[in-house]
Amino acid sequence: MRWFKRKQKAEELGLTDLPRHIAVIMDGNGRWATKRGLPRSAGHSVGAEVFRTIATHCRDLGIEHLTVYAFSTENWSRPADEVRSIMKLLEKYLREAIETMERDHIRLCIWGDTSVLSPELQSLIRTTDDLSQNYKGFQANICINYGGRDEIVRAANLCAEKGLPITAEALSGAMYSAGVPDPDLIIRPSGEYRLSNFLLWQSAYAELYFTDTLWPDFTTADLDAAIVDYQHRSRRYGGVQSK
Ligand code: FPP
Repeated sequence: MRWFKRKQKAEELGLTDLPRHIAVIMDGNGRWATKRGLPRSAGHSVGAEVFRTIATHCRDLGIEHLTVYAFSTENWSRPADEVRSIMKLLEKYLREAIETMERDHIRLCIWGDTSVLSPELQSLIRTTDDLSQNYKGFQANICINYGGRDEIVRAANLCAEKGLPITAEALSGAMYSAGVPDPDLIIRPSGEYRLSNFLLWQSAYAELYFTDTLWPDFTTADLDAAIVDYQHRSRRYGGVQSK
């Protein structure tokens, strides 16, 4: 979709003054599945499809970045079966994204310590990284084996190794998110009200949006509602001016 078409679509929906970067904690997959008598993996599977739909919608609206929390540094403590099913889903998604990147123009970037992932997943991540360099425009950042504290410690160590003084700029430049604007809007579905170690550094001035909807039930209309809510916020960044 070309720029003017995207602008038209956003305007039709009354969505002007869009956030440049939206981040989502894709929560509630397990409860969604359990309520239906299904294994938790079924919730993750539907959750992955919802991610695809929401990413496409963000791209079409002209949002620049969508960052999602797919697997945290703490999620390894889940039952082995569930961890395996999430890793398999990530592999499946990356394999399909590699096939469709030229058509979809959705660049992918993986944030997190990928060194402990399976060789197969690491190889798919390298391929998506390489292919993504060929495209401009919308970027989806998928956090895998990601933790906000871990990212900050890693960034501090990277600065120390380079002999850089520890400044906010140096740390920002050493984060997985280097070069990406901080999230304007962080959405957490499923009725939980916390950040759970997600984007701790980058969320300093993010607007937070919570909804009871479980992630597998989250629709493009829910995303639009979150954006409309965001548009009514007064972002002052510690100052006194309204936006
Ligand atoms: C949180 O819900 C969800 C996860 C820990 C996994 C999210 C992973 C996916 C949606 C699949 C792969 C992603 C992509 C981008 C292809 P939960 O399990 O904690 O739910 P609960 O709180 O109801 O138990």
